[in-house]
Amino acid sequence: MTRRRRIYEGKAKVLFEGPEPGTLIQYFKDDASAFNNQKKGTISGKGVLNNRISEYLMSKLMEIGVPTHFMKRLNMREQLVHEVEIIPIEVVVRNIAAGSFSERFGVPEGTPLPRSIVEYYYKSEELGDPMISEEHITAFGWATPQDLDDMMALSLRVNDYLSGLFLGIGLKLIDFRLEFGRLYNEHGEMRIILADEISPDNCRLWDVKTNERLDKDRFRRDLGDVAQAYHEVARRLGILPEAQQAEIVDTTRAASTS
Ligand code: TMP
Repeated sequence: MTRRRRIYEGKAKVLFEGPEPGTLIQYFKDDASAFNNQKKGTISGKGVLNNRISEYLMSKLMEIGVPTHFMKRLNMREQLVHEVEIIPIEVVVRNIAAGSFSERFGVPEGTPLPRSIVEYYYKSEELGDPMISEEHITAFGWATPQDLDDMMALSLRVNDYLSGLFLGIGLKLIDFRLEFGRLYNEHGEMRIILADEISPDNCRLWDVKTNERLDKDRFRRDLGDVAQAYHEVARRLGILPEAQQAEIVDTTRAASTS
């Protein structure tokens, strides 16, 4: 096997140099972390499932004209993506109160919001990803007002489309987090595209009938059956071959170090 240059290693993924300039290979790990790395564990099979789920959702989004970094899935754990200049902002879209929103504003989890709310967080592990406003983003030069307009418009389109897609398989899209990057063409023209991944690692998905959580909150909150939840999302999306269905066993080993 040829040795590939490792460009970046995050909590759940590794980026390697791709076969062509301007491409990267995104490798999905089984590692999971929460609460700014205070809780760490492994969710057996998560990387395989997230690779597949993200491929499916990014492909669907591209079909409706949302530009993404996804190019093609290479194997069980890897996909080829466009190399982008990552914008250091996490965009969170919320439809129903949960998680840090519920804590911050004292709104009980599960309360529908009067309209979708978009929030921004600055990507900085040292600072614990603080919530920021458009003022911070433009004053610090992390993105221009035009970049922000594009990110907001894309985020709302993604929300509309994915809310419908998930509702069709009996899941409520409570909230999710997106990342964007700048892609330059050969003429030096730039456009903002969706990067990273879309999976139960960065979406909250609740069963429509039971409100059962089928996302990373099962890991964050020690609810058990973590891998099964990811598996169930993939199964409902219709992207698991039958043979694989019984294979994934939950061996989550969550060790809270806080
Ligand atoms: P929050 O309620 O903890 O702020 O999370 C909102 C959404 O963003 C939820 O779907 C989980 C996702 N998220 C990430 O993907 N990465 C993160 O670091 C955090 C804090 C949240």
